[in-house]
Amino acid sequence: MGRLIGDGLYYTIVDIVVAPEFQGKGIGTSIVNHIMNYIGENIPKGGRVSVQLISEKGKEPFYEKLGFETIPNDNCGSGMNKIINNN
Ligand SMILES: CC(C)(COP(=O)(O)OP(=O)(O)OC[C@H]1O[C@@H](n2cnc3c(N)ncnc32)[C@H](O)[C@@H]1OP(=O)(O)O)[C@@H](O)C(=O)NCCC(=O)NCCS
Repeated sequence: MGRLIGDGLYYTIVDIVVAPEFQGKGIGTSIVNHIMNYIGENIPKGGRVSVQLISEKGKEPFYEKLGFETIPNDNCGSGMNKIINNN
């Protein structure tokens, strides 16, 4: 499974998960490519979008193979997040 959240300009990919017995068969790649194709088909003419995600520790190589760049890099500062609980 995989989820895409966004507003047409910025997108976040979350919850890319393949059942353990099916991992390593290209399914995760296929899910992300499906999502990226959807985004690509919906870019307004002349427009540009940014797709972001937070990799689980150690899963960065999976996303790098799909063209994502680890940040910080020359163009971006660190990604940041904040969790808000309602306990
Ligand atoms: C990460 C995950 C989605 C990858 O899905 P998958 O179907 O196993 O991945 P694929 O078979 O499409 O692998 C594509 C490439 O990424 C590489 N890759 C996959 N998982 C990797 C990992 N944990 N570390 C390094 N490389 C990895 C594969 O070796 C493969 O490389 P290759 O094309 O050179 O052979 C899957 O392992 C998973 O569900 N993990 C548990 C949940 C999780 O951590 N999700 C990520 C949330 S950010």
